[in-house]
Amino acid sequence: MAAILTAALVAAGLYLFFFVFFPIGRGAIYDPSSRAEAEAMSRLAEVVRGEKAADLGSGDGRVVIALARQGALAHGYEINPILVFVSRRNIRREGLSGRAFIHWGNFWRRRLSGYTLITVFQVGFVMGRLEAKLKRELPPGARIVSHYWRFPGLRPEQTQGNLYRYRVTGTPRSTTSPG
Ligand SMILES: C[S@@+](CC[C@H](N)C(=O)[O-])C[C@H]1O[C@@H](n2cnc3c(N)ncnc32)[C@H](O)[C@@H]1O
Repeated sequence: MAAILTAALVAAGLYLFFFVFFPIGRGAIYDPSSRAEAEAMSRLAEVVRGEKAADLGSGDGRVVIALARQGALAHGYEINPILVFVSRRNIRREGLSGRAFIHWGNFWRRRLSGYTLITVFQVGFVMGRLEAKLKRELPPGARIVSHYWRFPGLRPEQTQGNLYRYRVTGTPRSTTSPG
């Protein structure tokens, strides 16, 4: 009985550490898009073959995989190391190594100016700050597809259920390439 209780406490502690502590205050906790939603995001994005795309907070990699299948060079930024491991394994299993890449880290610290397509499924409290970062760093014409959450100061050019596609206008103020 004591062994079961200890195992349950250790499992709960590990879950809290990796799935709550890592993203807390930085973005959404892990709540994956359904497979159908990930596919729909990649279709709504209207991927141009060979363009660089990034999913910010890439979870188990399902959106990155969907983008790569549509022809993007797809990158994911994920803060939870367990999900980084799982998503890299999923990419290998799908035979997409070389077209899909996962970076372990905090997407707030990454320059996104080399990307022409961004996908996000984050959380309400980051959307204003994220909008400012994307406007600052993305080139004019770049598209952003958001699952569920809307940007407070942008108007979607296309809406499909709870998916929103936005387009960046104007001139970027920062031109550093992504890490
Ligand atoms: C709601 S899940 C979405 C996962 C995936 N994009 C999908 O649609 O299935 C949000 C993900 O963002 C990650 N995350 C939250 N804040 C982050 C940050 N600042 N940098 C990198 N990843 C972050 C979480 O660990 C979690 O996996």
